[in-house]
Amino acid sequence: PTRAEQVTWSPDAAYHQGQMILRDGAFWVAQADHAPQPEFSEQLWSKYTRHDYAVFNPVHTWIEFLNRLLGVLLGIPVLLATAASFAHIRRHPWWVVTMFAVLFTLGFEAWLGKVVVDGNLVPHHITYHMLGAYVLLALLTVLFRNVHSLAEQNLWRAEPPATPAQLRPMLWGFVVLAALLLGQTVLGTSVREGVDDLVHQWGFDAPRAGWVAQLEPGVLVHRSASLILLALAYWLYRRSAGLAGLRARAGLVLMIFMAEAVVGALMYYLEIPKGLQPIHLMLSAGAWMLLVDAVAKSGLILRAIRGSRGSA
Ligand code: HEM
Repeated sequence: PTRAEQVTWSPDAAYHQGQMILRDGAFWVAQADHAPQPEFSEQLWSKYTRHDYAVFNPVHTWIEFLNRLLGVLLGIPVLLATAASFAHIRRHPWWVVTMFAVLFTLGFEAWLGKVVVDGNLVPHHITYHMLGAYVLLALLTVLFRNVHSLAEQNLWRAEPPATPAQLRPMLWGFVVLAALLLGQTVLGTSVREGVDDLVHQWGFDAPRAGWVAQLEPGVLVHRSASLILLALAYWLYRRSAGLAGLRARAGLVLMIFMAEAVVGALMYYLEIPKGLQPIHLMLSAGAWMLLVDAVAKSGLILRAIRGSRGSA
């Protein structure tokens, strides 16, 4: 439904079984198909109790619809890529395996998304949903890096020659930073769950003064931990001088983390303005992709160097 009339009971309308209306601050489900009735009868309707979120907002409906549409649109290229990966099954069996893992994770995310919506924010589901999205991003990024790097091999030669002694600390640095980011994200989403509880309690549009003080102490760990992430990102940036592709990634991650800390601080000190929440979330997803890509890229360069030594 996109118009209030569609969810408002009317004596002139016929209803079919399962149809929902909003009445007296609650949703009601039609128990059976029925013709227009002069008055609303509780015998024909039962209260919907799966969740207590009973607000009709067409903007929410459209966002939910777009969200599902995009989910389906994402499924199509994934299916096509899975089919295409079979063409390479002999030389690159891992591409096929990775695509199946992507398909599985996508299915899991779709199912979990439904559970989240049905359960109206059951504890921790958001965190699991976010972790699933990170797994999806990681799998697709690693696969992209693998496929792309075959074409890119000549380009590596054009980069200043790196030595394993330079590359190894970079590889481990990126791995550790990715792991720290994962931890920071889990902490962040648990803070987010606290915010959602407050939204649930007071309403989305309620004034948010005093909310930050009510959050669990995890938010303080989250705030301080960002300094460790920033420090390691800075170290990686300094260390990567001369390593063109890796330096670009380290530099971007450092910039994203700086922006992330600024947005986080604005949320923290300005009582969580609504518009900043999605920016904070998207920035960390971007950093995650770059870090997974950097891990894959440094690993692949190391492997290529070893390979070329082996064949020399
Ligand atoms: C490297 C730095 C940081 C990263 C990667 C990061 C990441 C995240 C992530 C992934 C979330 C969950 C978002 C969601 O589920 O919607 C989150 C939430 C949050 N973060 Fe951060 N964060 C960082 C720094 C900070 C800083 C410095 C602060 C405060 C001073 C902060 C304050 C918050 C708050 C208040 C929330 C909950 C708000 C909400 O989304 O509802 N963050 N963070």
